[in-house]
Amino acid sequence: MYTEKVMDHFRNPRNMGEIEEASGVGTVGNAKCGDIMRIFLKIENEVVEDVKFKTFGCGAAIATSSIATEMIKGKTIQQALEITNQAVADALDGLPKEKVHCSLLAEEALHAAIWDYAQKNNITIEGLEPPKKDISHEE
Ligand code: FES
Repeated sequence: MYTEKVMDHFRNPRNMGEIEEASGVGTVGNAKCGDIMRIFLKIENEVVEDVKFKTFGCGAAIATSSIATEMIKGKTIQQALEITNQAVADALDGLPKEKVHCSLLAEEALHAAIWDYAQKNNITIEGLEPPKKDISHEE
């Protein structure tokens, strides 16, 4: 039921780990499935210089966090913010319907990390909302 790309990122996740003294850290969870995703960002001059993730969750959650980190590395904060869960799912050549919420977790973790960065630096980023504590399944 998973595409080749999902399986590839699940088996060989890119950018797994943590960043010490990260510019921003975002953690989100889904109470229903119990999965948790954390994204660490190193931001310099408004550009994502490095990004790592830690995910305790299903294969799709690991694959979506892995590809999301690849998609935002080297991007500006604004470009990173524009990456939606749909873009993440498309980059994996699609996700089964019941796994779409896993890609939402990736989008929310990224936004939460950028929010943390903005809070630490006392800046306002247009279009950025405070992170939700829990992301629920949509189905
Ligand atoms: Fe919940 Fe994948 S089953 S994040």
